[in-house]
Amino acid sequence: MATRETLTVTDNRTGKQYELPIENGAIRTADLRQIKVSPDDSGLMGYDPALTNSATCKSKITFIDGDKGILRYRGYPIEELAAKSNYLETAYLIVKGELPDERHLEMWKYNITIHSMVHENIKKFMDGFRYDAHPMGMLVGTVGALSTFYPDAANINDLESRRLQTRRLIGKLPTLAAFAYRRTLGLPYVYPDNDLSYTGNFLSMLLKMTELKYQPNPALERALEVLFILHADHEQNCSTNALRAVASSQVDPYSAVAGAVAALYGPLHGGANEAVIRMLTEIGSKERVPEAIKKFKAGEGRLMGFGHRVYKNYDPRAKIIKQTAYEVFEVTGKNPLIDIALELERIALEDDYFVSRKLYPNVDFYSGIIYQAMGFPVTMFPVLFAIPRTSGWMAQWAEMVRDPEQKIVRPRQIFIGEAPRAYIPIAQRPAPSMREDAVSPEI
Ligand SMILES: CC(C)(COP(=O)(O)OP(=O)(O)OC[C@H]1O[C@@H](n2cnc3c(N)ncnc32)[C@H](O)[C@@H]1OP(=O)(O)O)[C@@H](O)C(=O)NCCC(=O)NCCS
Repeated sequence: MATRETLTVTDNRTGKQYELPIENGAIRTADLRQIKVSPDDSGLMGYDPALTNSATCKSKITFIDGDKGILRYRGYPIEELAAKSNYLETAYLIVKGELPDERHLEMWKYNITIHSMVHENIKKFMDGFRYDAHPMGMLVGTVGALSTFYPDAANINDLESRRLQTRRLIGKLPTLAAFAYRRTLGLPYVYPDNDLSYTGNFLSMLLKMTELKYQPNPALERALEVLFILHADHEQNCSTNALRAVASSQVDPYSAVAGAVAALYGPLHGGANEAVIRMLTEIGSKERVPEAIKKFKAGEGRLMGFGHRVYKNYDPRAKIIKQTAYEVFEVTGKNPLIDIALELERIALEDDYFVSRKLYPNVDFYSGIIYQAMGFPVTMFPVLFAIPRTSGWMAQWAEMVRDPEQKIVRPRQIFIGEAPRAYIPIAQRPAPSMREDAVSPEI
């Protein structure tokens, strides 16, 4: 039988048949609109509340095979990049599509580094936050505010403008993040030191005290480079989807990245490694691990840092992070939580509950342990995620802007509310009970 790249659908309401093209393993849900029961029917829709099975774009940036545990940026395996590359080189790869030669890498480094300074006014509104403001909340606000400093960023269809905003954002994110951190400690802000590497300068802006020049520890600098490489992009995750949705209105990229940072702030996205630290601290010792596993299996809480919507195998990033942890401990001393984490992993990977559900350690299982060993408070964890993810966001943004198939994002809904009804003057409305939830228990 001759095969065709199509899907034949029979509408049992009408008996009609439709043949829909299949391209890249997908049908276009817009093709379903021709399936109608009557001419005034607006057509069949797809219902996919969390976009769990809907591709919203074609992308050349990141490839994930969740079943096999594969992650590649622009075709390069994450393991090779983590072992051989550095963050700025990987950011170049993600943004431009190819690894740079020496001259282009030098130019890229220069072009990013000259944008590491921020306008002095930024310090003033950093100061305006309350003394106990969360650094991620400060980041959402200050990244969004950058759009007011760079009105030229509105020229999203201009290649040179896109390049400039990309360099500015990658250059300034560590500065904003470090300023937010210093603000929470009440310490003076440290200006960028452009003689240092991207991560070395970030450590300097975080940690420099009275010394004339801060010298980052090479092992910690390298560990941060590896963590930044691993977090640079992850295709259409929650914050990237938020970025694409916001940017689809053709707003400037600072506003769109602020939307992405806001999405990353949520505990289900950028905050999961904090939850891992809380869980490990609560378990408290290796001996209490079997008891904790028993509880997770009984549905009392979840084993945080385990399981993933896409990976049904060991998250390749988790493997690299686990190895990096030991390199960090050589400098910082061992974080005792690692022993509890290792025991959890050992028991879970032998337990049928976790094996049959394909629950493996994800990127967050070990990253918090490293950050904690390096002295970062848990409130900085999502900030440390946002810095490297900026290169991924900018690559995804540029791809979307150039894609002729993209339009303003405007999903449909299935309306399940009231049928039409007449307005009732206030005096004639029945008196509700005084309880607030008598009218709407939902809000
Ligand atoms: C990441 C996560 C949200 C993915 O969720 P999902 O793809 O929607 O998977 P589901 O919630 O449908 O889980 C499928 C099954 O595995 C179980 N499960 C999933 N993650 C679990 C975990 N971490 N601990 C214990 N059980 C878990 C669920 O209870 C469910 O079991 P059931 O089929 O008996 O009901 C989920 O695995 C999770 O909550 N993990 C912990 C939080 C975390 O580490 N988040 C960071 C992700 S990078």
